Amino acid sequence: MSLKIEPLGDALGAEVSDIDLSKPLMEEDIAAVKDAFLDYHLLCFRSDPLAAEDFSAIARLFGEPQLQLIRTTRHGEVPEISVLDSTYKNADQKPADFKLNRKSGWHTDDSYFEVPAKVTLLQSIEIPKSGGHTRFCNTRKAYDDLAEEEKRRIDDLKAVHAYDTMRAPARAKKRTKEEEEETPEVVHPLVRTHEENGSKAIYFNPNRTDRIVGMERKDSDALLDWVNETITQQKYRYDHEWRMGDLLVWDNRCLIHSVNVDFPVGQTRLHQRILLKGARPQ
Ligand code: OGA
Ligand code: MN
Repeated sequence: MSLKIEPLGDALGAEVSDIDLSKPLMEEDIAAVKDAFLDYHLLCFRSDPLAAEDFSAIARLFGEPQLQLIRTTRHGEVPEISVLDSTYKNADQKPADFKLNRKSGWHTDDSYFEVPAKVTLLQSIEIPKSGGHTRFCNTRKAYDDLAEEEKRRIDDLKAVHAYDTMRAPARAKKRTKEEEEETPEVVHPLVRTHEENGSKAIYFNPNRTDRIVGMERKDSDALLDWVNETITQQKYRYDHEWRMGDLLVWDNRCLIHSVNVDFPVGQTRLHQRILLKGARPQ
């Protein structure tokens, strides 16, 4: 095996090096990468920005790409790729209170769908000179560390996920009629079991989980606030400082993420992204 896999910290994540993503990979390297993905939940490949077709080919090692909801950001030639520009074009776009930038809110991608994407691939095409780290928390570790009694308390709960919730500090983007029709409220288990290894993780999206099914709003809020505090503890967290061309692959079934939106106004922050089809959370 030619590649190297090294942990990025105690909480989650590993860096894969000595690999050229623009060339076909050897079978044994592919197998090692897939195993490492299940163990670490996030992989970072140091790379140059990839051509759309190469990016798409890497994504297919991990699963099947799906079209993303928002039409306007789809790549012209390879529509399964979205091009995400998070640059502050002018000072008005950068709020004094970072919480008001939706990206700074913790979330797991696409949980407003009945069948959310299992994996996200995100590659930096251009990065600001400072800031803009993407932060991750490991909700599998957070679940594992709960007391048996706490696990029992949440094990069978179900939660309503919506495109937006008043619980989130910032409002979601406005959808078109078509996008709205595709995103009614959905119900997911609060604790989900990973299809590929049977492990359990808390499945909570602070930006989109509105309430626990069958609970009064006040009790539901108290429980979700506690879940939120539990899973975002420092010990479960890894902050990724982007280098140009870094390609992150992460598991939305057991991680949440958010962006430190502290980067300077006028410096381009641009990524390409692919989401992979998942299974209904169980
Ligand atoms: C995403 C996302 C993080 C970033 O692509 O799902 O949340 O760093 N992006 O821009
Ligand atoms: Mn995201």
